[in-house]
Amino acid sequence: MTDTLSTDLVHPADSADAAWWRHAVIYQIYPRSWADSDGDGVGDLPGVTARLEHLRDLGVDAVWFSPFYTSPQADAGYDVADYRDIDRLFGTLEDADAMVARAHELGLKVIVDLVPNHTSDEHVWFQEALASAPGSRERNRYIFRDGRGPGGDEPPNDWHSVFGGAGWTRVTEADGTPGQWYLHLFDSKQPDLNWDNDEVHAEFESILRFWLDRGIDGFRVDVAHGLIKEPGLPDYDAELHILDGELKPGAPKPPMWDQEGVHEVYRAWRKILDGYGEPDRILCAEAWVRPQERAVRYVRPDEMHQTFNFDFLQSQWRAADLRAVIDTSLAAADSVGAPSTWVLSNHDTVRHASRLGLPVGERRPNGISAADPQPDRELGLRRARAASTLMLALPGSAYVYQGEELGLPDSTDMPAEFRQDPTFIRTQGKEIGRDGCRVPIPWVKDAPSFGFGPSDATWLPQPAVYGEYAVDQQVGVEGSTLELYRDLLRVRRERELGTGGLAELAGYGDDVVALVNTGQGQSTLVLANLGTEPVALPEGSTVLVASGPLTDDGLVPLDTTVWATTA
Ligand code: NOJ
Ligand code: MG
Repeated sequence: MTDTLSTDLVHPADSADAAWWRHAVIYQIYPRSWADSDGDGVGDLPGVTARLEHLRDLGVDAVWFSPFYTSPQADAGYDVADYRDIDRLFGTLEDADAMVARAHELGLKVIVDLVPNHTSDEHVWFQEALASAPGSRERNRYIFRDGRGPGGDEPPNDWHSVFGGAGWTRVTEADGTPGQWYLHLFDSKQPDLNWDNDEVHAEFESILRFWLDRGIDGFRVDVAHGLIKEPGLPDYDAELHILDGELKPGAPKPPMWDQEGVHEVYRAWRKILDGYGEPDRILCAEAWVRPQERAVRYVRPDEMHQTFNFDFLQSQWRAADLRAVIDTSLAAADSVGAPSTWVLSNHDTVRHASRLGLPVGERRPNGISAADPQPDRELGLRRARAASTLMLALPGSAYVYQGEELGLPDSTDMPAEFRQDPTFIRTQGKEIGRDGCRVPIPWVKDAPSFGFGPSDATWLPQPAVYGEYAVDQQVGVEGSTLELYRDLLRVRRERELGTGGLAELAGYGDDVVALVNTGQGQSTLVLANLGTEPVALPEGSTVLVASGPLTDDGLVPLDTTVWATTA
Protein backbone atom coordinates (compact mmCIF):
# COMPACT_ATOMS: atom_id res chain seq x y z
CA MET A 1 0.00 0.00 0.00
CA THR A 2 2.92 2.34 -0.49
CA ASP A 3 1.21 4.15 -3.36
CA THR A 4 -1.83 5.06 -1.30
CA LEU A 5 -0.69 8.17 0.44
CA SER A 6 -2.49 10.46 -1.93
CA THR A 7 -4.85 12.65 0.02
CA ASP A 8 -7.77 14.98 -0.43
CA LEU A 9 -7.89 17.94 1.94
CA VAL A 10 -11.18 18.30 3.79
CA HIS A 11 -10.15 20.92 6.33
CA PRO A 12 -7.22 23.34 6.58
CA ALA A 13 -5.20 23.53 9.81
CA ASP A 14 -6.11 26.07 12.48
CA SER A 15 -3.37 28.41 13.66
CA ALA A 16 -0.93 26.84 16.12
CA ASP A 17 -1.81 29.35 18.84
CA ALA A 18 -5.59 29.07 18.35
CA ALA A 19 -7.71 29.92 21.42
CA TRP A 20 -8.15 27.07 23.92
CA TRP A 21 -11.76 26.30 23.06
CA ARG A 22 -11.01 25.69 19.40
CA HIS A 23 -9.31 22.40 20.25
CA ALA A 24 -10.25 21.64 23.88
CA VAL A 25 -11.32 18.24 25.17
CA ILE A 26 -14.21 18.94 27.52
CA TYR A 27 -15.39 16.39 30.08
CA GLN A 28 -19.04 16.39 31.11
CA ILE A 29 -19.79 15.85 34.77
CA TYR A 30 -23.36 14.98 35.63
CA PRO A 31 -23.08 16.10 39.26
CA ARG A 32 -25.64 13.74 40.76
CA SER A 33 -23.76 10.74 39.46
CA TRP A 34 -20.05 11.47 39.62
CA ALA A 35 -18.95 11.35 43.25
CA ASP A 36 -20.92 11.51 46.51
CA SER A 37 -19.16 12.94 49.56
CA ASP A 38 -21.86 12.59 52.20
CA GLY A 39 -23.39 9.17 51.55
CA ASP A 40 -26.88 10.39 50.65
CA GLY A 41 -26.63 8.57 47.32
CA VAL A 42 -26.48 11.73 45.23
CA GLY A 43 -23.23 13.10 43.87
CA ASP A 44 -22.23 16.56 45.11
CA LEU A 45 -19.68 19.34 44.69
CA PRO A 46 -17.38 18.35 47.59
CA GLY A 47 -17.38 14.89 45.99
CA VAL A 48 -16.31 16.43 42.69
CA THR A 49 -13.57 18.55 44.26
CA ALA A 50 -12.09 15.51 45.97
CA ARG A 51 -11.85 13.60 42.71
CA LEU A 52 -10.81 16.26 40.20
CA GLU A 53 -7.34 14.78 39.93
CA HIS A 54 -8.89 11.97 37.91
CA LEU A 55 -9.49 14.54 35.20
CA ARG A 56 -6.03 16.05 35.38
CA ASP A 57 -4.59 12.54 35.01
CA LEU A 58 -6.96 11.80 32.16
CA GLY A 59 -5.66 14.86 30.35
CA VAL A 60 -8.79 16.85 29.53
CA ASP A 61 -8.80 20.65 29.26
CA ALA A 62 -12.13 21.61 30.73
CA VAL A 63 -15.14 20.33 32.63
CA TRP A 64 -18.77 21.05 31.84
CA PHE A 65 -21.20 20.63 34.73
CA SER A 66 -24.83 19.74 34.17
CA PRO A 67 -26.98 22.00 36.42
CA PHE A 68 -26.29 22.13 40.16
CA TYR A 69 -28.57 25.10 40.93
CA THR A 70 -31.44 25.22 43.40
CA SER A 71 -34.12 23.05 41.90
CA PRO A 72 -36.99 20.76 42.84
CA GLN A 73 -35.20 18.24 40.55
CA ALA A 74 -38.24 17.48 38.43
CA ASP A 75 -35.89 17.14 35.45
CA ALA A 76 -32.67 16.38 37.34
CA GLY A 77 -31.85 20.06 37.78
CA TYR A 78 -32.84 21.30 34.30
CA ASP A 79 -35.71 22.93 36.20
CA VAL A 80 -33.99 25.82 37.95
CA ALA A 81 -35.64 27.62 40.85
CA ASP A 82 -32.71 29.93 41.64
CA TYR A 83 -29.98 30.55 39.08
CA ARG A 84 -27.70 32.17 41.63
CA ASP A 85 -27.50 29.46 44.25
CA ILE A 86 -26.51 25.80 44.56
CA ASP A 87 -29.05 23.15 45.44
CA ARG A 88 -28.37 21.87 48.96
CA LEU A 89 -28.32 18.39 47.45
CA PHE A 90 -25.05 19.39 45.79
CA GLY A 91 -23.64 21.81 48.36
CA THR A 92 -23.33 25.57 48.73
CA LEU A 93 -21.94 28.50 46.77
CA GLU A 94 -18.79 28.17 48.88
CA ASP A 95 -18.48 24.56 47.73
CA ALA A 96 -18.83 25.76 44.14
CA ASP A 97 -16.12 28.39 44.64
CA ALA A 98 -13.83 25.78 46.18
CA MET A 99 -14.48 23.41 43.30
CA VAL A 100 -13.76 26.07 40.68
CA ALA A 101 -10.59 27.10 42.50
CA ARG A 102 -9.36 23.50 42.68
CA ALA A 103 -10.16 22.91 39.00
CA HIS A 104 -8.22 26.01 38.03
CA GLU A 105 -5.31 24.90 40.20
CA LEU A 106 -5.25 21.67 38.23
CA GLY A 107 -5.32 23.55 34.93
CA LEU A 108 -8.94 22.69 34.15
CA LYS A 109 -11.41 25.25 32.86
CA VAL A 110 -14.97 25.17 34.20
CA ILE A 111 -18.11 25.44 32.09
CA VAL A 112 -21.54 25.58 33.73
CA ASP A 113 -24.95 24.79 32.31
CA LEU A 114 -27.31 27.67 31.64
CA VAL A 115 -31.01 26.91 31.27
CA PRO A 116 -32.70 29.92 29.65
CA ASN A 117 -35.65 28.35 27.83
CA HIS A 118 -37.61 27.62 30.99
CA THR A 119 -37.45 27.95 34.75
CA SER A 120 -38.83 25.68 37.43
CA ASP A 121 -42.44 26.28 38.37
CA GLU A 122 -40.99 26.87 41.85
CA HIS A 123 -38.95 29.86 40.62
CA VAL A 124 -40.11 33.06 42.34
CA TRP A 125 -41.11 34.54 38.97
CA PHE A 126 -43.48 31.71 38.22
CA GLN A 127 -44.93 31.81 41.71
CA GLU A 128 -45.54 35.54 41.22
CA ALA A 129 -47.10 34.86 37.83
CA LEU A 130 -49.53 32.37 39.33
CA ALA A 131 -50.52 34.86 42.01
CA SER A 132 -51.05 37.67 39.51
CA ALA A 133 -53.85 38.40 37.07
CA PRO A 134 -53.93 37.56 33.36
CA GLY A 135 -52.21 40.35 31.40
CA SER A 136 -50.00 41.34 34.35
CA ARG A 137 -46.30 42.09 34.15
CA GLU A 138 -45.67 38.94 36.19
CA ARG A 139 -47.51 36.69 33.72
CA ASN A 140 -45.75 38.32 30.80
CA ARG A 141 -42.43 36.75 31.86
CA TYR A 142 -43.86 33.40 30.75
CA ILE A 143 -46.11 32.30 27.92
CA PHE A 144 -49.62 32.45 29.32
CA ARG A 145 -52.60 32.35 26.95
CA ASP A 146 -56.37 31.92 27.18
CA GLY A 147 -57.59 28.49 26.14
CA ARG A 148 -59.57 27.74 23.00
CA GLY A 149 -63.11 26.48 22.74
CA PRO A 150 -66.09 27.04 25.03
CA GLY A 151 -64.91 28.22 28.43
CA GLY A 152 -61.30 28.19 27.23
CA ASP A 153 -61.21 24.50 28.06
CA GLU A 154 -58.88 23.54 25.21
CA PRO A 155 -55.17 24.35 25.15
CA PRO A 156 -54.22 27.48 23.16
CA ASN A 157 -52.59 25.37 20.43
CA ASP A 158 -51.73 21.76 19.69
CA TRP A 159 -48.10 21.70 20.74
CA HIS A 160 -46.90 18.63 22.58
CA SER A 161 -44.28 18.42 25.30
CA VAL A 162 -40.95 16.93 24.24
CA PHE A 163 -41.36 14.60 27.22
CA GLY A 164 -44.81 13.44 26.06
CA GLY A 165 -48.34 14.71 26.72
CA ALA A 166 -49.64 18.23 26.17
CA GLY A 167 -47.32 21.23 25.99
CA TRP A 168 -49.79 23.35 28.00
CA THR A 169 -51.09 23.23 31.55
CA ARG A 170 -54.09 25.16 32.84
CA VAL A 171 -53.84 27.17 36.04
CA THR A 172 -56.45 28.03 38.60
CA GLU A 173 -56.92 31.77 39.03
CA ALA A 174 -56.86 33.51 42.42
CA ASP A 175 -60.68 33.41 42.61
CA GLY A 176 -60.69 29.63 42.23
CA THR A 177 -61.94 29.53 38.62
CA PRO A 178 -60.20 27.57 35.83
CA GLY A 179 -57.86 30.07 34.25
CA GLN A 180 -55.22 30.59 31.60
CA TRP A 181 -52.79 28.05 30.21
CA TYR A 182 -48.99 28.22 30.25
CA LEU A 183 -46.62 26.72 27.72
CA HIS A 184 -44.02 24.12 28.68
CA LEU A 185 -42.08 22.47 25.89
CA PHE A 186 -40.77 20.07 28.55
CA ASP A 187 -42.34 19.02 31.86
CA SER A 188 -45.26 20.93 33.35
CA LYS A 189 -42.80 21.89 36.10
CA GLN A 190 -40.67 23.69 33.45
CA PRO A 191 -42.68 26.71 32.22
CA ASP A 192 -41.19 28.37 29.13
CA LEU A 193 -39.95 31.91 29.56
CA ASN A 194 -41.15 34.71 27.29
CA TRP A 195 -38.09 35.88 25.36
CA ASP A 196 -40.10 38.68 23.78
CA ASN A 197 -39.84 40.37 27.16
CA ASP A 198 -36.85 42.67 27.86
CA GLU A 199 -36.98 41.81 31.53
CA VAL A 200 -36.12 38.21 30.68
CA HIS A 201 -33.14 39.34 28.60
CA ALA A 202 -31.90 41.58 31.40
CA GLU A 203 -32.25 38.82 33.98
CA PHE A 204 -30.17 36.33 32.00
CA GLU A 205 -27.50 38.89 31.22
CA SER A 206 -27.24 39.46 34.95
CA ILE A 207 -27.04 35.68 35.59
CA LEU A 208 -24.22 35.42 33.05
CA ARG A 209 -22.30 38.11 34.89
CA PHE A 210 -22.98 36.49 38.25
CA TRP A 211 -21.14 33.31 37.18
CA LEU A 212 -18.48 35.06 35.13
CA ASP A 213 -17.67 37.17 38.17
CA ARG A 214 -17.22 33.95 40.15
CA GLY A 215 -14.54 32.94 37.70
CA ILE A 216 -16.19 30.40 35.45
CA ASP A 217 -14.92 29.97 31.90
CA GLY A 218 -18.09 29.44 29.94
CA PHE A 219 -21.65 28.20 29.56
CA ARG A 220 -23.31 25.28 27.87
CA VAL A 221 -26.65 26.71 26.78
CA ASP A 222 -29.61 24.36 27.21
CA VAL A 223 -32.19 24.19 24.38
CA ALA A 224 -30.42 27.05 22.63
CA HIS A 225 -32.66 26.68 19.59
CA GLY A 226 -35.90 26.99 21.54
CA LEU A 227 -36.01 30.39 23.24
CA ILE A 228 -37.99 32.27 20.61
CA LYS A 229 -41.31 30.98 19.34
CA GLU A 230 -42.96 31.94 16.06
CA PRO A 231 -45.34 34.88 16.66
CA GLY A 232 -48.94 33.79 17.10
CA LEU A 233 -47.81 30.31 18.26
CA PRO A 234 -49.32 28.57 15.20
CA ASP A 235 -50.48 24.96 15.45
CA TYR A 236 -47.92 22.33 14.64
CA ASP A 237 -49.44 18.95 14.31
CA ALA A 238 -46.50 16.70 15.15
CA GLU A 239 -44.82 15.07 18.07
CA LEU A 240 -41.96 17.14 19.38
CA HIS A 241 -38.55 15.57 19.41
CA ILE A 242 -35.86 17.96 20.54
CA LEU A 243 -33.44 15.11 20.82
CA ASP A 244 -33.92 14.02 17.22
CA GLY A 245 -33.87 17.37 15.52
CA GLU A 246 -35.50 15.30 12.83
CA LEU A 247 -37.90 16.96 10.44
CA LYS A 248 -40.35 14.68 8.71
CA PRO A 249 -39.83 15.09 4.96
CA GLY A 250 -42.08 17.87 3.69
CA ALA A 251 -43.12 18.88 7.20
CA PRO A 252 -43.34 22.61 7.90
CA LYS A 253 -40.60 24.28 9.91
CA PRO A 254 -41.41 23.79 13.60
CA PRO A 255 -42.62 27.09 15.11
CA MET A 256 -40.78 26.46 18.38
CA TRP A 257 -37.29 25.60 17.14
CA ASP A 258 -34.53 27.57 15.44
CA GLN A 259 -36.36 30.86 15.04
CA GLU A 260 -34.30 33.77 13.73
CA GLY A 261 -34.66 35.81 16.94
CA VAL A 262 -32.46 33.48 19.00
CA HIS A 263 -29.37 34.78 17.24
CA GLU A 264 -29.88 38.28 18.57
CA VAL A 265 -29.84 36.88 22.11
CA TYR A 266 -26.49 35.17 21.56
CA ARG A 267 -24.94 38.23 19.94
CA ALA A 268 -25.74 40.19 23.09
CA TRP A 269 -24.30 37.45 25.29
CA ARG A 270 -21.14 37.20 23.23
CA LYS A 271 -20.48 40.89 23.84
CA ILE A 272 -20.79 40.33 27.58
CA LEU A 273 -18.38 37.40 27.53
CA ASP A 274 -15.91 39.25 25.32
CA GLY A 275 -15.95 42.03 27.91
CA TYR A 276 -14.21 39.67 30.33
CA GLY A 277 -11.08 39.63 28.16
CA GLU A 278 -8.61 36.79 27.95
CA PRO A 279 -8.57 33.85 28.16
CA ASP A 280 -11.83 33.63 26.22
CA ARG A 281 -15.02 32.77 28.09
CA ILE A 282 -17.19 30.59 25.90
CA LEU A 283 -20.75 29.70 24.94
CA CYS A 284 -21.65 26.27 23.63
CA ALA A 285 -25.09 25.72 22.11
CA GLU A 286 -27.21 22.69 22.70
CA ALA A 287 -29.12 23.18 19.46
CA TRP A 288 -30.63 20.13 17.83
CA VAL A 289 -30.78 21.82 14.45
CA ARG A 290 -30.47 20.34 11.00
CA PRO A 291 -28.92 20.56 8.50
CA GLN A 292 -25.38 21.46 9.58
CA GLU A 293 -25.55 24.67 7.52
CA ARG A 294 -28.28 25.91 9.85
CA ALA A 295 -26.64 24.57 12.98
CA VAL A 296 -23.44 26.53 12.35
CA ARG A 297 -25.37 29.80 12.21
CA TYR A 298 -25.17 29.58 16.04
CA VAL A 299 -21.38 29.82 15.83
CA ARG A 300 -20.95 32.73 13.46
CA PRO A 301 -18.10 34.96 14.61
CA ASP A 302 -20.24 37.25 16.80
CA GLU A 303 -22.40 34.51 18.33
CA MET A 304 -21.51 31.38 20.26
CA HIS A 305 -18.14 29.66 20.17
CA GLN A 306 -19.28 26.08 19.83
CA THR A 307 -22.36 24.04 19.06
CA PHE A 308 -22.74 20.33 19.74
CA ASN A 309 -22.39 18.20 16.66
CA PHE A 310 -25.25 15.80 17.22
CA ASP A 311 -25.05 14.46 13.67
CA PHE A 312 -21.76 12.82 14.64
CA LEU A 313 -23.35 11.29 17.75
CA GLN A 314 -26.26 10.01 15.70
CA SER A 315 -24.19 8.55 12.87
CA GLN A 316 -24.62 4.88 12.18
CA TRP A 317 -21.53 2.70 12.62
CA ARG A 318 -20.78 2.64 8.90
CA ALA A 319 -17.63 4.04 7.31
CA ALA A 320 -19.51 5.91 4.59
CA ASP A 321 -21.79 7.58 7.15
CA LEU A 322 -18.87 8.57 9.35
CA ARG A 323 -16.86 9.94 6.44
CA ALA A 324 -19.86 11.95 5.28
CA VAL A 325 -20.60 13.44 8.68
CA ILE A 326 -16.94 14.31 9.27
CA ASP A 327 -16.75 16.05 5.89
CA THR A 328 -20.00 17.96 6.20
CA SER A 329 -19.33 18.98 9.80
CA LEU A 330 -15.92 20.40 9.00
CA ALA A 331 -17.12 22.11 5.83
CA ALA A 332 -20.06 23.69 7.65
CA ALA A 333 -17.95 24.85 10.59
CA ASP A 334 -15.23 26.14 8.28
CA SER A 335 -17.80 28.18 6.36
CA VAL A 336 -18.25 30.37 9.45
CA GLY A 337 -14.72 30.07 10.82
CA ALA A 338 -15.74 28.02 13.86
CA PRO A 339 -14.15 24.80 15.11
CA SER A 340 -16.27 21.70 14.74
CA THR A 341 -17.20 19.81 17.89
CA TRP A 342 -17.43 16.05 18.33
CA VAL A 343 -19.48 14.09 20.81
CA LEU A 344 -20.54 10.45 21.17
CA SER A 345 -22.36 10.35 24.51
CA ASN A 346 -24.11 12.61 27.00
CA HIS A 347 -26.75 12.46 29.71
CA ASP A 348 -29.61 12.41 27.18
CA THR A 349 -28.57 9.51 24.98
CA VAL A 350 -27.76 5.82 25.32
CA ARG A 351 -24.02 5.58 26.00
CA HIS A 352 -22.07 4.74 22.88
CA ALA A 353 -20.67 1.55 24.43
CA SER A 354 -24.27 0.30 24.47
CA ARG A 355 -25.61 2.07 21.40
CA LEU A 356 -22.93 0.62 19.16
CA GLY A 357 -23.68 -2.86 20.50
CA LEU A 358 -27.11 -2.75 18.86
CA PRO A 359 -27.63 -3.83 15.24
CA VAL A 360 -26.38 -1.25 12.72
CA GLY A 361 -29.03 0.68 10.83
CA GLU A 362 -31.66 0.83 13.52
CA ARG A 363 -33.12 3.99 14.98
CA ARG A 364 -31.28 5.23 18.06
CA PRO A 365 -33.42 4.18 21.06
CA ASN A 366 -34.43 6.60 23.81
CA GLY A 367 -33.31 4.30 26.60
CA ILE A 368 -33.18 0.52 26.84
CA SER A 369 -35.20 -1.65 29.25
CA ALA A 370 -35.05 -5.35 30.11
CA ALA A 371 -37.92 -5.93 27.68
CA ASP A 372 -35.90 -4.56 24.75
CA PRO A 373 -33.29 -6.39 22.69
CA GLN A 374 -30.08 -6.11 24.72
CA PRO A 375 -26.91 -4.61 23.27
CA ASP A 376 -23.93 -6.89 22.68
CA ARG A 377 -21.67 -5.63 25.44
CA GLU A 378 -18.37 -6.86 24.02
CA LEU A 379 -19.08 -5.66 20.50
CA GLY A 380 -20.38 -2.34 21.82
CA LEU A 381 -17.21 -1.74 23.83
CA ARG A 382 -14.97 -2.66 20.94
CA ARG A 383 -16.81 -0.27 18.64
CA ALA A 384 -17.02 2.41 21.30
CA ARG A 385 -13.24 2.33 21.72
CA ALA A 386 -12.81 2.51 17.96
CA ALA A 387 -15.32 5.37 17.72
CA SER A 388 -13.63 7.36 20.50
CA THR A 389 -10.22 6.79 18.94
CA LEU A 390 -11.59 8.19 15.69
CA MET A 391 -13.29 11.12 17.42
CA LEU A 392 -10.26 12.21 19.41
CA ALA A 393 -8.16 12.38 16.24
CA LEU A 394 -10.46 14.93 14.64
CA PRO A 395 -9.60 18.62 14.61
CA GLY A 396 -11.80 20.83 16.76
CA SER A 397 -13.17 20.37 20.26
CA ALA A 398 -14.31 17.01 21.64
CA TYR A 399 -16.74 16.27 24.46
CA VAL A 400 -16.31 13.22 26.71
CA TYR A 401 -19.21 12.14 28.93
CA GLN A 402 -18.33 10.89 32.42
CA GLY A 403 -17.78 7.14 32.41
CA GLU A 404 -17.08 6.78 28.71
CA GLU A 405 -13.37 6.80 29.59
CA LEU A 406 -14.18 3.58 31.48
CA GLY A 407 -16.07 2.06 28.56
CA LEU A 408 -19.17 2.12 30.75
CA PRO A 409 -22.37 0.71 29.24
CA ASP A 410 -25.88 1.93 30.03
CA SER A 411 -27.92 0.22 32.68
CA THR A 412 -30.25 -1.65 30.32
CA ASP A 413 -32.40 -3.58 32.77
CA MET A 414 -33.34 -1.01 35.40
CA PRO A 415 -36.67 -1.93 37.03
CA ALA A 416 -39.39 0.62 36.35
CA GLU A 417 -39.82 1.61 39.99
CA PHE A 418 -36.37 3.22 40.02
CA ARG A 419 -36.83 5.32 36.90
CA GLN A 420 -36.97 9.08 37.40
CA ASP A 421 -36.82 10.62 33.94
CA PRO A 422 -40.00 12.65 33.34
CA THR A 423 -40.04 11.17 29.84
CA PHE A 424 -40.70 7.72 31.30
CA ILE A 425 -43.38 9.06 33.59
CA ARG A 426 -45.14 11.31 31.04
CA THR A 427 -45.28 8.60 28.38
CA GLN A 428 -46.37 5.91 30.87
CA GLY A 429 -43.20 4.02 30.06
CA LYS A 430 -43.68 4.06 26.28
CA GLU A 431 -40.39 5.93 26.10
CA ILE A 432 -37.84 4.39 28.45
CA GLY A 433 -35.96 7.64 28.81
CA ARG A 434 -32.51 8.60 29.97
CA ASP A 435 -31.96 7.06 33.38
CA GLY A 436 -29.83 4.26 31.93
CA CYS A 437 -26.99 6.62 31.02
CA ARG A 438 -27.16 8.54 34.32
CA VAL A 439 -26.22 5.82 36.78
CA PRO A 440 -23.53 6.68 39.40
CA ILE A 441 -19.93 6.09 38.35
CA PRO A 442 -17.94 3.12 39.72
CA TRP A 443 -14.60 4.14 41.21
CA VAL A 444 -13.59 1.16 43.36
CA LYS A 445 -14.73 -2.40 42.68
CA ASP A 446 -14.72 -3.68 46.24
CA ALA A 447 -16.37 -0.80 48.04
CA PRO A 448 -19.93 0.25 48.88
CA SER A 449 -21.61 1.84 45.83
CA PHE A 450 -18.44 0.89 43.92
CA GLY A 451 -16.73 3.82 45.59
CA PHE A 452 -19.24 6.39 44.33
CA GLY A 453 -19.80 7.46 47.92
CA PRO A 454 -19.16 6.35 51.50
CA SER A 455 -22.46 4.43 51.73
CA ASP A 456 -24.39 1.86 49.71
CA ALA A 457 -26.87 4.50 48.63
CA THR A 458 -27.09 5.47 44.95
CA TRP A 459 -30.01 7.49 43.55
CA LEU A 460 -30.24 5.02 40.66
CA PRO A 461 -29.19 1.39 41.08
CA GLN A 462 -25.78 0.41 39.68
CA PRO A 463 -25.71 -2.78 37.57
CA ALA A 464 -23.55 -5.49 39.19
CA VAL A 465 -21.32 -5.50 36.15
CA TYR A 466 -20.25 -1.88 36.84
CA GLY A 467 -17.67 -3.20 39.32
CA GLU A 468 -15.62 -4.56 36.42
CA TYR A 469 -15.45 -1.06 34.94
CA ALA A 470 -14.38 0.69 38.14
CA VAL A 471 -11.53 3.17 37.90
CA ASP A 472 -9.35 1.09 40.27
CA GLN A 473 -9.69 -1.90 37.92
CA GLN A 474 -8.33 0.12 35.02
CA VAL A 475 -5.67 2.52 36.29
CA GLY A 476 -2.28 1.33 35.14
CA VAL A 477 -3.77 -1.72 33.41
CA GLU A 478 -2.44 -2.05 29.91
CA GLY A 479 -5.20 -2.22 27.35
CA SER A 480 -7.88 -0.85 29.70
CA THR A 481 -10.25 1.72 28.28
CA LEU A 482 -9.07 4.30 30.82
CA GLU A 483 -5.44 3.86 29.75
CA LEU A 484 -6.54 4.05 26.11
CA TYR A 485 -8.20 7.43 26.73
CA ARG A 486 -5.12 8.69 28.57
CA ASP A 487 -2.90 7.65 25.70
CA LEU A 488 -5.24 9.22 23.18
CA LEU A 489 -5.40 12.52 25.02
CA ARG A 490 -1.63 12.62 25.53
CA VAL A 491 -0.84 11.89 21.88
CA ARG A 492 -3.58 14.26 20.73
CA ARG A 493 -1.86 17.01 22.68
CA GLU A 494 1.69 16.08 21.66
CA ARG A 495 0.83 15.92 17.98
CA GLU A 496 -1.53 18.91 18.14
CA LEU A 497 -4.36 17.04 16.48
CA GLY A 498 -6.95 19.51 17.79
CA THR A 499 -5.66 22.28 15.56
CA GLY A 500 -4.62 20.05 12.70
CA GLY A 501 -5.78 20.02 9.13
CA LEU A 502 -7.55 16.93 7.88
CA ALA A 503 -7.25 15.02 4.65
CA GLU A 504 -8.82 11.84 3.38
CA LEU A 505 -6.40 9.14 2.45
CA ALA A 506 -7.16 7.49 -0.88
CA GLY A 507 -6.68 3.82 -1.64
CA TYR A 508 -8.63 2.17 1.15
CA GLY A 509 -11.96 0.53 0.50
CA ASP A 510 -15.40 1.85 1.29
CA ASP A 511 -15.42 0.19 4.71
CA VAL A 512 -12.44 2.08 6.07
CA VAL A 513 -12.26 5.65 7.35
CA ALA A 514 -8.71 6.64 6.42
CA LEU A 515 -7.61 10.13 7.34
CA VAL A 516 -4.47 12.11 7.85
CA ASN A 517 -4.42 14.76 10.56
CA THR A 518 -1.64 17.14 9.65
CA GLY A 519 -1.24 18.47 13.19
CA GLN A 520 1.17 21.38 13.19
CA GLY A 521 3.57 19.96 10.65
CA GLN A 522 3.62 16.32 11.74
CA SER A 523 1.17 14.02 10.03
CA THR A 524 -0.81 11.39 11.91
CA LEU A 525 -2.54 8.63 10.09
CA VAL A 526 -5.96 7.68 11.42
CA LEU A 527 -7.44 4.45 10.21
CA ALA A 528 -10.78 3.05 11.36
CA ASN A 529 -11.68 -0.33 9.95
CA LEU A 530 -15.42 -0.98 9.82
CA GLY A 531 -15.21 -3.69 7.16
CA THR A 532 -14.94 -7.45 7.41
CA GLU A 533 -11.29 -7.90 6.40
CA PRO A 534 -8.23 -6.74 8.34
CA VAL A 535 -6.37 -3.95 6.55
CA ALA A 536 -2.70 -3.06 6.36
CA LEU A 537 -1.18 0.24 7.40
CA PRO A 538 0.92 2.02 4.78
CA GLU A 539 4.46 0.73 4.67
CA GLY A 540 6.84 2.44 7.04
CA SER A 541 4.23 3.75 9.43
CA THR A 542 4.49 3.08 13.13
CA VAL A 543 1.50 2.59 15.41
CA LEU A 544 1.06 5.32 18.03
CA VAL A 545 -2.19 4.19 19.66
CA ALA A 546 -4.69 1.50 18.78
CA SER A 547 -8.21 1.01 20.11
CA GLY A 548 -7.59 -2.75 20.28
CA PRO A 549 -4.93 -5.34 19.49
CA LEU A 550 -3.70 -5.69 15.92
CA THR A 551 -3.60 -9.10 14.23
CA ASP A 552 -0.46 -11.21 14.56
CA ASP A 553 0.59 -9.90 11.14
CA GLY A 554 0.23 -6.30 12.28
CA LEU A 555 -3.01 -5.69 10.40
CA VAL A 556 -5.84 -3.50 11.67
CA PRO A 557 -8.78 -5.79 12.45
CA LEU A 558 -12.48 -5.15 12.23
CA ASP A 559 -13.96 -2.42 14.47
CA THR A 560 -10.55 -1.08 15.38
CA THR A 561 -9.05 2.38 14.96
CA VAL A 562 -5.33 3.05 14.84
CA TRP A 563 -3.25 6.21 14.96
CA ALA A 564 0.12 5.86 13.27
CA THR A 565 2.96 7.93 11.98
CA THR A 566 3.18 8.32 8.24
CA ALA A 567 6.35 7.02 6.63
C1 NOJ B 1 -31.65 19.35 27.28
C2 NOJ B 1 -30.98 18.72 28.45
O1 NOJ B 1 -29.77 18.16 28.04
C3 NOJ B 1 -31.95 17.70 28.98
O2 NOJ B 1 -31.38 16.86 29.92
C4 NOJ B 1 -33.15 18.44 29.52
O3 NOJ B 1 -34.12 17.51 29.93
C5 NOJ B 1 -33.78 19.36 28.47
N1 NOJ B 1 -32.78 20.09 27.75
C6 NOJ B 1 -34.71 20.34 29.10
O4 NOJ B 1 -34.01 21.29 29.85
MG1 MG C 1 -24.27 13.62 48.29
